[in-house]
Amino acid sequence: MSTADVSGKSLAELVSLKGRRAVVTGGGRGLGKAIAARLAEAGADLLIGDLDEGLAGAAAKELAERHGVRAVGAAMDVTDAAAVSAAADRALAELGGLEVWVNNAGIFPAVPLLEMTEETWDQVFAVNARGVFVGAREAARRMAAAGTGGVIVNIVSTAGFRGSAPGLAAYVGSKHAARGLTRELALELAPMGIRVLGVAPSFVPTEGNLAMAAAAGVNLADLPPTDLMLNSPIGRVGTPDDIARVALFCASDLSAFMTGSTLLADGGDTA
Ligand SMILES: NC(=O)c1ccc[n+]([C@@H]2O[C@H](COP(=O)([O-])OP(=O)(O)OC[C@H]3O[C@@H](n4cnc5c(N)ncnc54)[C@H](O)[C@@H]3O)[C@@H](O)[C@H]2O)c1
Repeated sequence: MSTADVSGKSLAELVSLKGRRAVVTGGGRGLGKAIAARLAEAGADLLIGDLDEGLAGAAAKELAERHGVRAVGAAMDVTDAAAVSAAADRALAELGGLEVWVNNAGIFPAVPLLEMTEETWDQVFAVNARGVFVGAREAARRMAAAGTGGVIVNIVSTAGFRGSAPGLAAYVGSKHAARGLTRELALELAPMGIRVLGVAPSFVPTEGNLAMAAAAGVNLADLPPTDLMLNSPIGRVGTPDDIARVALFCASDLSAFMTGSTLLADGGDTA
């Protein structure tokens, strides 16, 4: 059970995910791929789901070769409940079980409020909020049926704690929803031995947000340090691995007495 007292375990045992099976949504690139890499290094077998099947397959192949784990790449759109359910079934069939589920897939279009359409709002919520609900439900159904417990990790954002940049109303709303879901699901799933934790990164350069900035005509090198997190207490921009190590902590028995929290991984910026 992921909520058992593990105080007698060694540090190596606590951080190890050997024998556990993990699904990472949106794991083909960016933060999701970095998270999948640390989970694999800790010994987890993986199903990497992504809208882009080619990216998912390439990430799975790379991590399987590098870390000697089993890894499957799967096409998965988190807005499509049937596709999420099918990917969860594939994890059971091909990996033999499911103990860790990371809801990482997310989108962050920047649209000024006065121009934002209901379609944009709904799409952002379909991925960032409903996708977390559907992923958690599909994971929890299988973890509860197996009776072995598990951990669900939701990748939130500092935008789940406060307002962000102009144009991100749907994003900020959806990330507050993801953080709220983390708290609610934690209490509902605890009796089944399932823990639910959130990780809230601040700005980290990834393929996704660099492309978004470029599409908006923004060169990140021109932005003032405030926008780039350089004046956060830690004073540097985060890396995908800065976030992945916190996700690994959440997924492992190191955090066995934690559920419902969303951990800020933000260089102290929200302190
Ligand atoms: N990078 C940051 O600065 C930052 C900060 C805070 C939170 N986050 C959160 O981290 C998560 C990952 O962000 P990233 O920067 O790595 O993004 P990214 O765009 O680089 O990667 C996201 C991945 O998710 C996939 N994806 C998108 N929509 C999907 C869907 N409907 N179903 C399945 N897969 C889908 C994409 O194909 C892509 O591979 C998101 O939830 C994002 O909100 C990122």
